[in-house]
Amino acid sequence: MGKIVIAIDGYSGCGKSSTAKAVAKDLGYTYIDSGAMYRAATLHFLNSYLSPSNPHDVEKGLKDLEIEFHPNPDSGEQETYLNGLNVEKEIRTMRVSENVSNLAKEKEIRKVLVAQQKKLGKSKGVVMDGRDVGSVIFPDAELKVFMTADLETRAYRRQQELLAKGDLVDLEEIQKNLAERDQIDSTREEGPLIKVEDAVEIDTSNLNFAEQVAQIVDLAQQKINHT
Ligand code: DC
Repeated sequence: MGKIVIAIDGYSGCGKSSTAKAVAKDLGYTYIDSGAMYRAATLHFLNSYLSPSNPHDVEKGLKDLEIEFHPNPDSGEQETYLNGLNVEKEIRTMRVSENVSNLAKEKEIRKVLVAQQKKLGKSKGVVMDGRDVGSVIFPDAELKVFMTADLETRAYRRQQELLAKGDLVDLEEIQKNLAERDQIDSTREEGPLIKVEDAVEIDTSNLNFAEQVAQIVDLAQQKINHT
């Protein structure tokens, strides 16, 4: 039985990452979080006082930007490294969330990250989540999923996620951030968030976590059986 590529795209805070991670685990596939790469790049630009909208700064920032994923020795989960440092926690903070979409709309930055993402998926047996996975990174992916959920549900879930990490953030602040990112991500020129024709849409507003994972694993098994 052959291995496939699974592309999961959708709005901010739909639970794409946690779902994609669980699907990968279930299938014995590698999970790649493309958003983590934009988040790590954002942290790099913020820490270096560089502006992603200034071409000189972009050139400078991209020169010494190295993003890698390494498994956590205890949990085995992939964690994000920026220039050799583990930044997995830091890239999930509101400071990064509030700046990431403005960096992600920059063409030169996307070009570099998309090229790296394409390489990561070369060996198949991959689940990647993001905004342009099915449209730009892996247009030939055997399974494409487009996840949605209403804004209130997404904000509440994100609040719970942050709370579990000890971060208490106001629900309205989260909702505003998700709506703003959706707007920037969907309307940018380069690799905008769109539902491609061959993607299966899954609205998770009324699904629990196990149900949304099971739906995608089922779809994947059908594709795998035909590969
Ligand atoms: O999946 P996430 O919320 O961690 O992604 C953070 C941001 O990165 C998101 O608001 C838009 C950007 N992104 C992107 O432009 N393309 C991707 N493939 C993944 C994320």
